Amino acid sequence: MFLSLLLVLLIGAVAWAGSAVGFASLFGVALPYLALAVFIVGMVCRMAYWAKSPVPFCIPTTGGQEQSLDFIKQAKFDCPNTRIGVFVRMFLEIFLFRSLFRNTQADLVGNNGTGTVYYSSKWLWCFALVFHYCFLLVFLRHFRFFTEPVPFWTTCLETLDGVMQIGAPRFFMTGGILLAALLFLLGRRVFNEQLRYISLVNDYFPLWLLVGIVCTGVCLRYFDKAEIAMVKIFIMGITHFSPVSPDGITPLFFAHVTLVSALLLYFPFSKLAHMGGIFFSPTRNMANNSRRVRHINPWNPPKQYFTYAEYEDTYRDVMAEVGLPLEKEPDRAAE
Ligand code: HEM
Repeated sequence: MFLSLLLVLLIGAVAWAGSAVGFASLFGVALPYLALAVFIVGMVCRMAYWAKSPVPFCIPTTGGQEQSLDFIKQAKFDCPNTRIGVFVRMFLEIFLFRSLFRNTQADLVGNNGTGTVYYSSKWLWCFALVFHYCFLLVFLRHFRFFTEPVPFWTTCLETLDGVMQIGAPRFFMTGGILLAALLFLLGRRVFNEQLRYISLVNDYFPLWLLVGIVCTGVCLRYFDKAEIAMVKIFIMGITHFSPVSPDGITPLFFAHVTLVSALLLYFPFSKLAHMGGIFFSPTRNMANNSRRVRHINPWNPPKQYFTYAEYEDTYRDVMAEVGLPLEKEPDRAAE
């Protein structure tokens, strides 16, 4: 855990110090371009790899009664047997994290801890959902830096998000909630013994990285306030592939952008790529219809058929000689 925290602090500090001593263009222009290119190419390659992977078995994970006799109620979305059912299941999974909603926890009970009790645990689902939606909203709100004129929907989002009107500049709720959700997800790994035991650098690093991005963003807005007009001109320059001078922009902005670049560079090679992977998961995107539809393994070599008609054509004379029954007698076959 500390290694990944240290790594994130190091990335932020190098970018902050580097841009303060004159390397702002490196962290604010070259690195983001490189990161975006790696992100796009990396994700496309990974998805192409998944798309090309053969699926030898019909392996949807099921969470309910499969289609059976008419009087037995089928769990249509947990055990779909049609494409529409699969679509609804995927939709609920992607937008509501339905499988996480079924999350359970096991605890030892009794005097000597001999009994086990399982119970529903919704916290992970709740904070995972809150985190992803707040992230999406913060991401969408950032479009005001990349577009001119600023789209109407971005302004609407900002108005709704800042509706509490706390302080000046207005406090955006999603930024604060995003940080709280991230801290919960981190705390869950740190304070839960079993989870801590199985957690690796790859589990902590993205969380710390996101905490770093959000903290630097929050500081940019509320504490070490960035000169937004200059920042916007700078960002528009990058978006239009004609970068302008970064002079006068606080180094904290470059720390923020560098941490985002680190996230983009890391994304395709990490577990975060599940964002695209979910669509290719055969456990989710297949219908549970293996009793009605034959699933052909694409690894099977092409079949060589020798039909009975061909067999009889080949051996007809010999078969007739030994008196075997034939579908066509030799004289009729010759006609
Ligand atoms: C993973 C992507 C990113 C995340 C999660 C993120 C997160 C945040 C957060 C939480 C804030 C605090 C204010 C708010 O809630 O909007 C913020 C502010 C800011 N971010 Fe980001 N950010 C991201 C990417 C970027 C990028 C790519 C840029 C510019 C190239 C950028 C530039 C800024 C600026 C200039 C502010 C200050 C906003 C203000 O003063 O209103 N961010 N960011």
